[in-house]
Formats: sequence, C-alpha cells, structure tokens
Amino acid sequence: MISDLDAFDALAAGKSITDDANYSWRVARHPVGNVTPSDFRWDVSQIPEPAPGEVLLKAHYLGLAPVMRMYMMGGSPSGEMPLRIGDVIHGRGVAQVIKSRHPDYREGEVVQGQIGWQTYKVSAMTPQEKFFRMAPNGLPAALGSGVLGMTGLSAYAGLFPTGDPRSGDLMVLSGAAGGVGSMVSQIAANVVGCDVVGIAGGPEKCAFLLDHGCSATIDYKNENLAERLDVLRPDGIDLYFDNVGGETLAACLERLRMHSRVVLCGSISEYARTEPFALTNYTRLRRSESRMQGFFVYNHIQRWDAVMADLAGWIREGKLKPVQDIIDGVQNMPKALAQLYHGRNVGVQCCSVRGEPEVW
Ligand SMILES: NC(=O)c1ccc[n+]([C@@H]2O[C@H](COP(=O)([O-])OP(=O)(O)OC[C@H]3O[C@@H](n4cnc5c(N)ncnc54)[C@H](OP(=O)(O)O)[C@@H]3O)[C@@H](O)[C@H]2O)c1
Repeated sequence: MISDLDAFDALAAGKSITDDANYSWRVARHPVGNVTPSDFRWDVSQIPEPAPGEVLLKAHYLGLAPVMRMYMMGGSPSGEMPLRIGDVIHGRGVAQVIKSRHPDYREGEVVQGQIGWQTYKVSAMTPQEKFFRMAPNGLPAALGSGVLGMTGLSAYAGLFPTGDPRSGDLMVLSGAAGGVGSMVSQIAANVVGCDVVGIAGGPEKCAFLLDHGCSATIDYKNENLAERLDVLRPDGIDLYFDNVGGETLAACLERLRMHSRVVLCGSISEYARTEPFALTNYTRLRRSESRMQGFFVYNHIQRWDAVMADLAGWIREGKLKPVQDIIDGVQNMPKALAQLYHGRNVGVQCCSVRGEPEVW
C-alpha cells in the first residue's frame, strides 16, 4: 500500500506560491512500489527568461496520469527523456504564452503540451513537447488538461480504431469511473449505442457510472466480479475495454463471444506489482476467434485536430459530460498522483496550479 494520503497533505503543508518565482516538483528518489512523499522534492527558483526562438509559459492546469509513476521510476513510455534524480517531473497541461521571442507564438495565446510539474516554463515549442493551440471552441481551457487533452485522445484511440465498437455491442469496461473510463463509457453508450457494464471501486463510483453511460455496474471492491459478470453478461462480451489488467482481464477473457474485441489500454492493477501478472487464459481468443489489441496514444497524435473537434461536438450535444477531478494548488500535485492509486479520483485527475476556477 502507498503511504497514507495524510502524509501527502503534510508534504504540501506550508508551501504556497506567488507569481514572482518558479515552483516545481522534482524527482527526489525513484519510487519503489507506489509513490511516497519522499519521492518528491519541492524547488523554488527564478522565473526563466526566454532566449530568441523561445516562449515563457505560465502554467494554469496540469493533468495527472498513472504513467507518471513510471516516468519517476526512470521509464519513458511517451518518448520523453527518462527522468533522473533532480529532474522536473513530466506532465502535460494548459498554459498561456506570457512572453514570446518565438516567430510562431504570440503573447496571450493559450496552448497545451508538455509543461512539467512547474508554474513557469521556457520552451522552444519543439515537436517532442507536442504543443497544440487550444481551439476556440467556447469550452473552458481547463478541459485541455484532460478531457480535451491526452486523456480524450486515449479514450478515442482506444475505443474507435482499436475497439471497433458497434451499436448493440455487449461491452464491459474496467477503470470505468477514471479519466479514460468515464469518457469511454459515455462515448460508447451515447455516440455508438453500446450497452456498457462498468467496473469500478465503491458504491459512489457505481452510482456515478449509471449517470455516465453505463446500464449496469460492478463494484469490484465489494462484489464478486465473476458472479456479477455471469449475471450481467450471461451471453458473453463483444467488447472489453481494459484499463486495469490482472485478474479482471482474465475474468473477461473467460466470457468472450464469437468475434469479440479486447482493447488493452492500461493495467493499473499491475503497475506496483514486483512480478507482472501471468495471464494464462489468452487462448480463449482462439476458441471465439476474437482479437486482443493494444494501442499507444502517442501513435495517434496525427488525429489530434479531428478527435478534439469530435469530442467538443459531443460535449456541446450533451452526449459527453466532461468530468475532471480538480485539486487546487501545484503544491498538491504529489497527493493528486497518489490519489489515482488510492482510487480517489472520479474522471480525469487534474490540478489547477493556483486554484483558478474551472471555467478559465
Ligand atoms: N495505452 C495508452 O496509450 C494509454 C493512455 C492513457 C492511459 N492509459 C492507461 O489507461 C488507464 C486509465 O488511465 P487514466 O489516466 O484514465 O487513469 P484513471 O483511470 O483515472 O486511474 C485511476 C483509477 O484507476 C483505478 N485503480 C487504481 N488502482 C487500481 C487497482 N489496483 N485495480 C483496479 N483499478 C485500480 C481507480 O479506480 P477504482 O476506484 O475504480 O479502482 C482509480 O480511480 C491506466 O491504466 C493508464 O495507464 C493508457
């Protein structure tokens, strides 16, 4: 188990920010197992000045994702430089250009991209940082740190090109009340017409899911998963969207219908295990002529504009309710990351750097 969340409150205590310095969270130690407060170091430095060809960005919202623990361990699943001790932790978010010496960016423009866990950043806006201008869609810029950001692209890329969903599909979705999950449940049900059973931890999350696309739910922390799947999916599963891996993936593989699809999005239940989960029943794919396919969001980046336009359209039509769980204050970023592993978040876990209102 990770340290108690109170310990993360103690880490944030006494840390406040002003606009005349740069505040950042850096790697103090590579996490072993789940993240602990001693893995993070708070740093205060001068606000950097942009050189010719660079901009100064002021961060407003930062998104949180389970993969950040992997970054802190020195892994680089998204192609960024592996983090060493002392580096600013990687993270995407929404920022405003407040000084520009870059030919393509004007002061005042709002962008989203790789900012890191800090309040200011100087950037040459390189392709590796994957910056996008926020489209003028009338929706809050804060959504760029999650629903209209990399989480949204993940939900879309996992569901459509990977999952090939069809109207009437008998679907099961794990991690259903999380960032990717809460988007997939709504899009699959309200845009495609799938019948979605959502798996999440706790009665509050299950009640939330019934209002966000799911026709039925399984509270895996309080109910027997296999028994509930038998009750809710007596005819089997056409499409399983997997956010958690492990025993949940194995249970769904046991119940595949003919020509079903399994989307490997994530495996959060396995991330802190010392030994990977040994999946022994993958041969169930053979009997049902099913396919199991992974995807990696950064391989779908060329679809960005079209996907964001679709997502914004569905929000305006009321088919997709954006759900972002916003924690106030950059000093609480370590707690926000830990919360993901405690299952505390509903929707995309984000941070408003200075406690700005959600409508900014
Ligand atoms: N393939 C890609 O390119 C890609 C892109 C983005 C994300 N992902 C993956 O997609 C998954 C969802 O990402 P996200 O950013 O939306 O995070 P998220 O679902 O918001 O992640 C946090 C949630 O995971 C659940 N969880 C935590 N520990 C768990 C455990 N041991 N067993 C089962 N569930 C657990 C918790 O919900 P409960 O309270 O319900 O347990 C928690 O609220 C992650 O596995 C992530 O790594 C993959």
